[in-house]
Amino acid sequence: MVIKMGRMKNLLGRIKFLRSLKLRIFLLMLLVGIVPSIIIKHGILDNYETRAIDVRKSDVQNQLQILANHLITYNYLQDTSSEVINAELDQLSNLYDGRVLIIDRSFKIIKDTYGISEGKIIISEEVMKCFQGTGMSNHDRVNGYIEMTTPIIAGRAVQDVNGKTPEEVVGVMLTSVSTDSIVTTQEILNRKALIIELIMLIVIIGLAGVLSKLLLGPFERITQAINEVKAGFTDEQISVPDYLETEHIVDAFNQLLGRMKVLDDSRQEFVSNVSHELKTPITSIKVLADSLLQQPDAPVELYREFMVDITDEIDRENKIITDLLSLVKMDKKVAELNVTSVNINELMELILKRLRPIARKQDVEVVFESVRPVTAEIDEVKFTLAISNLVENAIKYNKPHGWVKVLLDADHQFFTVEISDSGIGIPEDSLEHIYERFYRVDKSHSREIGGTGLGLAITRNAILMHRGSIKAESIEGEGTTFLVKMPLMYIV
Ligand SMILES: Nc1ncnc2c1ncn2[C@@H]1O[C@H](COP(=O)(O)OP(=O)(O)O)[C@@H](O)[C@H]1O
Ligand SMILES: [Mg+2]
Repeated sequence: MVIKMGRMKNLLGRIKFLRSLKLRIFLLMLLVGIVPSIIIKHGILDNYETRAIDVRKSDVQNQLQILANHLITYNYLQDTSSEVINAELDQLSNLYDGRVLIIDRSFKIIKDTYGISEGKIIISEEVMKCFQGTGMSNHDRVNGYIEMTTPIIAGRAVQDVNGKTPEEVVGVMLTSVSTDSIVTTQEILNRKALIIELIMLIVIIGLAGVLSKLLLGPFERITQAINEVKAGFTDEQISVPDYLETEHIVDAFNQLLGRMKVLDDSRQEFVSNVSHELKTPITSIKVLADSLLQQPDAPVELYREFMVDITDEIDRENKIITDLLSLVKMDKKVAELNVTSVNINELMELILKRLRPIARKQDVEVVFESVRPVTAEIDEVKFTLAISNLVENAIKYNKPHGWVKVLLDADHQFFTVEISDSGIGIPEDSLEHIYERFYRVDKSHSREIGGTGLGLAITRNAILMHRGSIKAESIEGEGTTFLVKMPLMYIV
């Protein structure tokens, strides 16, 4: 049953127009308005018919009873010439548009108000039963008449053993009366009810139409407003405050719109930043090359010097492109992590070993301290990139004779890498921006030491992909500490 209902719903769902809320409200109103009136109508009319037939039966039965007594009084069964009785019979059959047959003990019809069957013998089950004392009445609905038998009873002169006067059925009246007048009344009632029903139908259709339009108007307005935004006529926030429900939809939509705007803005900003960053080295190369071209007799030393500068700029361009590619790779939500179980202590040693030459050049001491051996499930390449960027920053944004300390620790769930330095520090209002792409606290300084402004963005993405977190604390002029917290087990 449940499955059947489900299938039915599915089927209905597939018929597209039935999924219209407007239509459903309309149909529901129609149902609520029309069905009860149909039920009430049928109930009342059916009830009327049964009652009218019952009343007619008992009316006729009463009349016949009286008549039966008169028949005995006037001894009609022996002599049918009594004018009084004949007049009564005519009156009765006229009144009920019926026919009365009077049958005597020998089953002979001694009187027929139609005058057709007089003298004939009638032996039917009903008549026989009636001679035994049980009259009956039967409504023939199809042909529109009621047939009934009434015993004609005469009291006997002798008393029986019990002292009662036994009664004897001496004749039977077989009567049929038409129910046409009842049917006619019913038809009139039916017609009137139909007219009322039609009027109600029209009123309800009109009402349902108006109401469903009124109720759903706000939803249509929302669709229209969204369509306008979609078509690009406007990117204003939409407002349809008619219902609480529409307000919720509109609020959610406006929030979505806001988020899309932010995304769009940041995309535009990124593109313009990328173009600008990529253009800078090329502009320098162009300037260097042009100035050489303008001096046809420039000495070889000058050529050499400019060529070194040009190579530097090319390296820089290359670095920006490499960083951009790693960032874009990690930006994709679907970017896959190549997770393996890695000895973090060994990995940290390796990373620091690679960076020590730069540290030596900057006269910065790098110290590694590990509280315990750590093994974790990570993507080695991406994690290496993240930590390298942090340590490289700590070395680059340091002071002469400075130090960088890397501390590895773990609990049962996470491992932490703390990278602190004795460097120049980050101003407080810059702290929240350092993970933004191309953001650099001091553009010229960062550029001087070969920064692209993408390093921390890459680092953060790599750590977030591992479901880790990164936090920075800094005091300007004293140093900075980055704290990376990573889960030991990678959870999808
Ligand atoms: N350890 C640090 N000490 C001081 N400033 C830092 C440190 N790490 C990052 N910064 C600041 O954050 C900016 C962004 O860092 P990053 O994204 O790695 O770009 P960059 O390529 O310039 O190093 C840097 O330009 C620098 O101003
Ligand atoms: Mg950096």
